Amino acid sequence: MSEEQSRREQDLVDRVVRSFDGCPDPRLRYLVQALVRHLHAYLREVRLTEAEWEKAIAFLTDAGHITDDKRQEFILLSDVLGASMQTIAVNNQAYADATEATVFGPFFVEDSPRIEWGGDIANGAEGEPCWVEGRVTDTDGSPVAGARIEVWEADEAGFYDVQYDDDRTAARAHLLSDEEGRYAFWAITPTPYPIPHDGPVGRMLAAVGRSPMRASHLHFMVSAPGLRRLVTHIFVHGDELLDSDSVFGVKDSLVKHFEKCEPHDPTPDGRTLEGRQWSRVRFDIVLAPAGASEGNRGHSVTM
Ligand code: BEZ
Ligand code: FE
Repeated sequence: MSEEQSRREQDLVDRVVRSFDGCPDPRLRYLVQALVRHLHAYLREVRLTEAEWEKAIAFLTDAGHITDDKRQEFILLSDVLGASMQTIAVNNQAYADATEATVFGPFFVEDSPRIEWGGDIANGAEGEPCWVEGRVTDTDGSPVAGARIEVWEADEAGFYDVQYDDDRTAARAHLLSDEEGRYAFWAITPTPYPIPHDGPVGRMLAAVGRSPMRASHLHFMVSAPGLRRLVTHIFVHGDELLDSDSVFGVKDSLVKHFEKCEPHDPTPDGRTLEGRQWSRVRFDIVLAPAGASEGNRGHSVTM
């Protein structure tokens, strides 16, 4: 590239960056100026053609058109680019033996049904019964009593309740840990399913030869006063999708052994399973203190 060409390109970057110099919110100024620098570096590195720029605009326009209060294509895009997981990594910094966080996903619903110790979250969702138990502690090992544990998952057909059009509530609930921090419930053994791939993000995955499948998982959100809220999943040891999860959510520490049990094996709470196979898993949850090395969490911008 000629010196003159390079000077013209750099001059534009400098002028655009300077246009934000007067931004009164220093954080917003930093964010937009860094964005401009990185965006222009990308455009210059890949030598983006005008036809490619038009395709990119059409892609974002399609993402906007398919997005509504139920479908969020921009979060899905962030997920498949690993941007959601990178933001989670930055904001949930490693702290002692605190349980690792992973992606939230679009299928959490407020006001899930409350269940008691040993209750069943399935509420009619099809799938192999799975006993889930563990303890919630802080990083000193002290039990956390009364932690609110939200759990949600897809059924064995790969769909969350909110993906059916009959207003059902199934395979989701919340419960509280007991005085010793213990919790236990029946769920269904997680099975793999695809992220929504009938829109522009799905077309992008197909174009680049990537699968929309997520590794089998069970979602958790655990909160307790004075402790960092944890949004995470557990994954199934041996699942062949662990290395190719479409949203990069898998962390080794979250892969758990789901023990296969026979119909005649005694269940932990005496439940009879009428000839069905079932599974069981243990997930001990360690919560970091609130505010523990959370990077910029809580920092926002005025816009
Ligand atoms: C989920 O696990 O529910 C999910 C996460 C990211 C994108 C789509 C679904
Ligand atoms: Fe999920």
